[in-house]
Amino acid sequence: MSDFQTDLLAKVDEIEKIIKEYLPKEDGFQKTVIEAMNYSILSGGKRLRPMLMWETYKMLGGTGDVIKPFMAAIEMIHTYSLIHDDLPCMDNDEYRRGRKTTHVVYGEAMAVLAGDALLNFAFETATKAFGLVDEKDAVMLTRVAKAIRILGMKAGIYGMVGGQCVDVEAEKEELDISGDMLMYIHKNKTAALIEASMMIGALLAGADGTSVKNLEKCAENVGIAFQIQDDILDVIGTLEELGKPIGSDAKNNKKTYVTIFGMDRAERDVTTLSEEAISNIESVDKNNKGEFLKQLIISLIHRTR
Ligand code: IPE
Ligand code: IPE
Ligand code: MG
Ligand code: MG
Ligand code: MG
Repeated sequence: MSDFQTDLLAKVDEIEKIIKEYLPKEDGFQKTVIEAMNYSILSGGKRLRPMLMWETYKMLGGTGDVIKPFMAAIEMIHTYSLIHDDLPCMDNDEYRRGRKTTHVVYGEAMAVLAGDALLNFAFETATKAFGLVDEKDAVMLTRVAKAIRILGMKAGIYGMVGGQCVDVEAEKEELDISGDMLMYIHKNKTAALIEASMMIGALLAGADGTSVKNLEKCAENVGIAFQIQDDILDVIGTLEELGKPIGSDAKNNKKTYVTIFGMDRAERDVTTLSEEAISNIESVDKNNKGEFLKQLIISLIHRTR
């Protein structure tokens, strides 16, 4: 195993521990919905968003714990988006992260509620960051407030929900969607949460406005490349490796990067966008601490899961 792979596994382990610290206890009359939340979030996953957040934070000199509630929060929002994305009224998929989807195990009503609950709990969790900074430190308190705003914006109608809206509408047979519309879908349904991750990491580390903007662009490139690769894997991947069914897009008549631009261009663009992301990082990484982050982005180009 390469040094990068070893580091990656160790980091995923650390991130899982942090996420677990923030998960709710499974008790009370509402125990079932909490079990459904934990079932979904604890079933593995690459933990890419908290990892990008933490690595960005560290690259820019961040050292404290204030980032940790945000790492848990972004994974909660991402997991909620997957639970809802798999519902029969959306993509109607039965496997996720190598297990039966939440609605298959707990029923649709509970899956809707578990998604709602994870979204709310994410914000409840993020606000715990206020308790981790000195109450007289106005600069840090403002950074935390700004980070919460980014989380809300990138998850909502100007981000993930906006992208999912157009993704679902574009399923209509008669709709001949343009390249611009597809880019809107990819930028929002997928890149937005990745943008939130890197922006929050940068902001909490004290980066200036220009660096935050450059990292937003970096994350946009990573996010679009990531979704193109997801579209590719929906055609050439395997259920065993992906932990989710292939052919889901074709089944739903989805307009994907592969159906609109073809497989060759899709593969080429994953590489080009990832290279652009690397140069975005180099533009802000004054102290040369971004080596792992860059390797992580490169490793996503040929990911098989
Ligand atoms: C899946 O995200 C949904 C997309 C945005 C393509 P991931 O591929 O990051 O899923 P997990 O978290 O590893 O399960
Ligand atoms: C999902 O896109 C993006 C989300 C916001 C959940 P997909 O529908 O392609 O994701 P998978 O392939 O089901 O993971
Ligand atoms: Mg979908
Ligand atoms: Mg889906
Ligand atoms: Mg997909």
